[in-house]
This record gives sequence, structure tokens and C-alpha cells, in this order.
Amino acid sequence: MNHNLFGLMHTPYRRRDFLKQLSAFALTTGFSGTMLSGCGGVALDDASGLILPSGEPIAMPFDSSIPWWLQGNFAPVADETEAFDLPVQGAIPDTLNGLYVRNGSNPHAADSSHWFFGDGMLHGVRLENGKAVSYRNRYIHTDKYVDGDSGGPPTGGNNSSNVSAIYHGGKLLTSGEIGLPFEINVSDLSTVGVTNFDNSIQTSFTAHPKTDPATGNLHFFGYWFAEPYLTYHVADPTGKVIHSQPIPVDKPTMVHSFAITDQDVVFWECPVVFDLAAAAAGADNPFQWQPEYGARVGIMPLGGMASEIRWKEIEPCFVFHEVNAFRQGDDVVVDLCKYSTMFQGGASLGGSGESSLSRWTIGTGGDELSFSEQIITKASLELPTHDRRFSGRKNQHGWLLEMRDDPNTVDFGGIAHVELDSGNISMWDPGLNNHANEPFFVPDGDGEGEGWLLTYVFNHSSSKSYLAILNALDVESGPVASIELPQRVPFGFHGVWVPNS
Ligand SMILES: [Fe+2]
Repeated sequence: MNHNLFGLMHTPYRRRDFLKQLSAFALTTGFSGTMLSGCGGVALDDASGLILPSGEPIAMPFDSSIPWWLQGNFAPVADETEAFDLPVQGAIPDTLNGLYVRNGSNPHAADSSHWFFGDGMLHGVRLENGKAVSYRNRYIHTDKYVDGDSGGPPTGGNNSSNVSAIYHGGKLLTSGEIGLPFEINVSDLSTVGVTNFDNSIQTSFTAHPKTDPATGNLHFFGYWFAEPYLTYHVADPTGKVIHSQPIPVDKPTMVHSFAITDQDVVFWECPVVFDLAAAAAGADNPFQWQPEYGARVGIMPLGGMASEIRWKEIEPCFVFHEVNAFRQGDDVVVDLCKYSTMFQGGASLGGSGESSLSRWTIGTGGDELSFSEQIITKASLELPTHDRRFSGRKNQHGWLLEMRDDPNTVDFGGIAHVELDSGNISMWDPGLNNHANEPFFVPDGDGEGEGWLLTYVFNHSSSKSYLAILNALDVESGPVASIELPQRVPFGFHGVWVPNS
């Protein structure tokens, strides 16, 4: 059993217990208000380039009576804050002018039934002319955050909007797993409000839309609990929805992401099914592993009609994220992070099975689709990023977050640069007591992979966080710059780079 992403059993828990445990934790660690106090001075580690605490390595503290998503650096921060002219080790590339902003789950009631279900909070760092100009963190003012959870499935603006950040049509958006997205003010991360694209989408907006680099069109979908369960949309570069198609599927399944090529839309429908009875019974996670539902990949023309989609049944499995997809002759190739199971365990959140970074090849030349799978690596990797100038096009480079095996919690490690054709991996180990988070690629140069990776790094000894900037094609050399942040940044999900206009 590989205890990797999302793979741990849920422990029933009450907020009162959490506060009690938090108090005890504070007494033993020096917790004061919003963050853990440091454990002494910091020093530059020459090997990694990161600011590291002096002293010996320490084990990551873990309290088995507290759910893993409410302790350590999964625990929420209490304060919204801002800071300016941040300390920097190394040199920030002066070509990086813009805002790095990352979304994540930060339950403001200090309680949540899972890491996935806390209120969305953005953490942003603005870089200009080689300077770290500012840091801000802000809650996303969803209906759920402002008015409280009304219960039931997320609808409209009553969702957490905690999964991703998207920049399209000059607007910064946040999205949750289900429900409508929110527009965010780029200047201060304040919430403009919920958006339905001028009444063009009714239910949901995926956390993982895709921009076609040839047209600038945004391809996306939403899934829902009633028919149509799955709907595909295209928005033009201004954000106007120009195409929508309900995609026939038999049940409301969790479809977290999808892929495009220059000619195709690629769906994977896996047997994690929304169970209405479980939801009505108050299950923490109404999505259940139902392998008897089967799994399938679907290929339809980019911007095409639902009637043109073709499906191919595959072995039951689950996929949150792909690295990228491309067409090669009659074949559609998708590189993705695959699990053999997901959410096993009845009404509780359950385990993922074995994981791999896999290459799926779907042959489209015959009367029926063909399917084959090649394992690129069995290294436990997640939260991929790629050079988005090559979205839907043949690419060589993927960057992913290392998932360390830990029986107690989700443990993030370093950043892996994977050469996708060969499976060769170059690693950046963030060093003593440090844990990276999702990397995001920002282009700087003409060739694929020429650019920078941005990732928040947490040190569990000092309880401090840093923004690391890595040369994407030379991750093993460590950060070219490390930016010290005024408070820890909890482990989160997905970010985006908003370039200065
Ligand atoms: Fe995701």
C-alpha cells in the first residue's frame, strides 16, 4: 500500500477536540496565534540555496489524535496578512514580473472533514525587477465562507473555491472541484464575486481548464450531480463562452481534470461515483470507489460535438492530473498520474492504491479506439506542471512534486524533472526538514522548458515558508532565489502566474 496523495483514512473528528489538541500543541511547540515560533536562527544552506534553520534534523511532529489535514503544515493559518520588500537569498530573475498566486484549503472554522473541503485561501507573491515586492494571503469570499455552509452539494457560489487559480481573458479566477468560479482582484487578492460567464455555465467549472496555445481559447468542463452530469465548454480569448456540449455519461462521477491536443479533447471517466444515499446519510465524502462502474477514456474533436465522442473501456483506475497530451499521427498520447484505486472504504475517505506516472496511448485510426499503457516511472509523483506553450503538443518535460511514503500523513518532498520519453528523472531535494509543494512553470526563453519553477517550501523545524525559484532545466542545482515569507504557507493545491500587463 502506498500512502500517497489523498490515501489516508479519515478519522471522525470534532472541532472541540481540535481546539483542545491545538492548545496542547501550542504548549509543546511555542505556537502563538497564527504560526509556530522559530527554533533558532536561520542560515543559508550552500548545497540547496535555501534558507534553513540551524541545528539538527528533527522528525516531523505528528499527533495521531488529530486528522492529518488539520495539523503540521496542513493546518490552517488564522490571519490574513501582507508584507512588503521580502528578504531574498540569491537573485530573482529580473524577467519574472508578475504575481505567483496559489490556492488551497484553509478552513476558517479550524475544522474540516477532509483536506479537500476547507475554505479557499490564496497566497500570492509579487515579483518585479528582481525584487520580491509583496506577499498577501486572502480568503476567497465564497457564499460558503461569508454565510456558512448551507449543507448539501456545492451549488453556485456556495462552494469552497479552494482548488485552483486560473488566468484567462485578463481575469484571475479561482475554482473548486464543483460549483461556479470566483473572480479575484489581481492587485490585492480581494474577491470580486462569483461568475457564471454571463449565464453561460449553470452548474460547475473544473479546476483544470486548458488553454489552446494556437487559438487562446479556454477549453473546460463542469460535472454535476444531476443530468447532464458532464458538460464541455469553450470560451474565446476574451472569456466569452462560444460552445457548450453535454457529454453523455451514465452516472455522476468525479472528473477532476481532462486534456486537449491540437485536435482532440480527452476525458477519462473513472469509477469514483457520487453516491446520493451516502450524501443523504451525511457521509464526509459522498464520492465512492465503485469499480463495477468501470473506467473509460473518451476522445472527441476539439471544439466538437458530443455525438462525435468515442469511448474505450479500460481497467478501473483513478486519475486526478495529467502532465500533458498530444497527438502523434493516429495516436493520442496522455501522460498522467494514475492510481489503481481511489477513495476505497465505504462512506469514508479511503486509500489510493499503487501509483505511477503512466503514458496512455489511444489509437484512433480504427473503427474502434485502441488503448495501451506504458509506465514512465513508479516514483510517487503528483501535482504536475508543464510548459503551457506546449499544451496539447508534443513535449519532453514534466515537473512534479515528490510524494514521500509516510504511514501517518501526506508528506511532500522535492521537485522532480521528468524527461517524459525516457523516464529519466532529475531531482531537487529541498534539504533538511523541508517540503516543497506544487511547482508552477513560468516560461523565459524560446525552447520548451526554458523558464522557471515556482513553489512554496515549508520547513517543519522553523515552521517558516519560502518561495523557491528554480531553473526548470536544472532543478538539481537548487533555487536561484529563495524568498522568505512572513508566515507559513499551508500545503495547498494549484497556482498560476499572472504576468504584469
Ligand atoms: Fe487538481
